[in-house]
Amino acid sequence: MIGKHPAFTAYLSDPLNGGVPLVELGAHPLTPNDRFFVRSHGDIPMLSPSAYRLRVDGRVRVHLELSLPALAALPQHELTAVLQCAGNRRVELLALGDIPDEILWDTEGVSSAHWSGVRLSDVLALAGIDLPRFETGHIAFEGLDTIQKDDQTFPYGGSIPLDKAGDVLLATHMNGDPLPPEHGFPLRALVPGWIGARSVKWLGRISVQDTPSDNYYQTRAYRHFAPYDRKETADWSAAPMLGELPVNSLITAPAANANLPAGEITVQGLAWGGRPVERVDLSTDGGATWGSTQLAPADGRWNWRRWSARLHLPAGNYELTARAWDSAANTQPDQLAVVWNWKGYMNNACHRARIQIG
Ligand code: MTE
Repeated sequence: MIGKHPAFTAYLSDPLNGGVPLVELGAHPLTPNDRFFVRSHGDIPMLSPSAYRLRVDGRVRVHLELSLPALAALPQHELTAVLQCAGNRRVELLALGDIPDEILWDTEGVSSAHWSGVRLSDVLALAGIDLPRFETGHIAFEGLDTIQKDDQTFPYGGSIPLDKAGDVLLATHMNGDPLPPEHGFPLRALVPGWIGARSVKWLGRISVQDTPSDNYYQTRAYRHFAPYDRKETADWSAAPMLGELPVNSLITAPAANANLPAGEITVQGLAWGGRPVERVDLSTDGGATWGSTQLAPADGRWNWRRWSARLHLPAGNYELTARAWDSAANTQPDQLAVVWNWKGYMNNACHRARIQIG
């Protein structure tokens, strides 16, 4: 039922969580559906398209129950966007301290696809909400999956502030095909530039409300702790809820620990974040000195940017290090210690790959 590529490896099969290695990620301008990472906290519900309804309620003028044909009758839109799990690259943080009870993602928890569907703002307009008129408030999303946690059973959920709603697509299709079951068939939210946790799959309900979602995955997970906070002393109400992604990049080729003949090599990678990527720097000496890379033209506002550099390297050992910059001149910290937190979220420290030449 779940048609993933042989390169897809699962950290967990129930619930399904996994992705493909860097070499596969870097090999495609957009991630094919069978290689796209999966991050699920509960089951994969098998939903009947004819019975499916999207409920829209809360602080709206008209409550709605929209069928798939009703959604298909709305103007259709497209969006090419990265999806990244807040826990991506968590395993690197283990070098500095224990991260209890979490999946130790390497770099598989990011992918990019061409999504299509309807704008959240068009659905809200049907419900009598004119986005620009609302200054405060939140949009809560609820999934039709079932989470079992701490002796409780509940659906997955999360929310975004109203001022992010204008960017959101309610996607029915991924890379031209209907959403695969594991990616949210028949409808998911796609909140570009934000942690993947807010892009709720198997979307069953949208509520407009004054406060953020009270779902576990908004209130008790995906919060940002400081390097000096610990599980035992964590103050969940004080830690900020995660939203916008920081600027980040990966070296996709050559592979870490590659042994290459002397001569010209091409270093390639990907860079993305909540804001447009403007530049990627590359170091061959672990960050002591830096040079430029070539950025491929931007493909829309929310897609990752591919970058590359051709280097002549004499025989020796090198530590390739990538550092992306965004449109607000934010960049990646060079030390993991700056970003370490006991939940292992938002690791955007410079990505490194040691290689040997000759
Ligand atoms: N939506 C539902 N209903 N249930 C989930 O477990 N996981 C979230 C988000 N939406 C999740 C969900 C998380 S943590 C991430 S990172 C993304 O889905 C992953 O989307 P993908 O599996 O399509 O890559």
